[in-house]
Amino acid sequence: MSEQTIQIVKATAPVLAEHGETITRHFYQQMFSQNPELLNIFNATNQKTGRQQAALANAVYAYAANIDNLGVLTAAVQRIAHKHASFNILPEQYPIVGKHLLEAVAHVLGDAATDEILNAWKEAYGFLAALFIEVEEGIYRESELAEGGWRGTREFRVVNKVQESELITSF
Ligand code: HEM
Repeated sequence: MSEQTIQIVKATAPVLAEHGETITRHFYQQMFSQNPELLNIFNATNQKTGRQQAALANAVYAYAANIDNLGVLTAAVQRIAHKHASFNILPEQYPIVGKHLLEAVAHVLGDAATDEILNAWKEAYGFLAALFIEVEEGIYRESELAEGGWRGTREFRVVNKVQESELITSF
């Protein structure tokens, strides 16, 4: 990342904090209308309650505010990457999210979103996306190489079903 990008992203972080949830709400609306296939992987309840919007807004803000000291985000990156891996998020999905996130920033900031600011955010998003992709690939590889492991989804055959209690069933 260039020094100029780091400076611009850090300087615009407070604006994101102020508009973060409006940006992410707009982002999800646009992304789901243009890429409805993604509706299947996101938890609809977390969308309705706003939990997912808040989680993404907080993550983007934390990234922007610490862009000159990314080491402090290591634990958060690991946690989010594991969450992503549990949904089998793939590298090719990052440009889709990036495109809609950038458009949402441009939409909500209006004239304040200059080309310079948008280009800096584009570069910064690409950097973060590459980091997640690398960490997630490590998780997928580890699962694949473990004894009896696999990558992605896999078919299973249910051989038995036991009603353990009113609430719990074992398969
Ligand atoms: C740099 C880009 C991204 C950031 C900063 C980000 C951030 C986050 C955060 C903070 C969470 C919440 C984690 C938690 O609950 O502990 C999350 C969950 C999730 N993310 Fe991402 N994410 C990014 C890219 C993506 C991409 C490309 C996809 C795939 C389309 C994706 C799909 C998901 C899903 C499905 C969840 C779980 C949502 C749920 O509980 O319904 N994310 N992400």
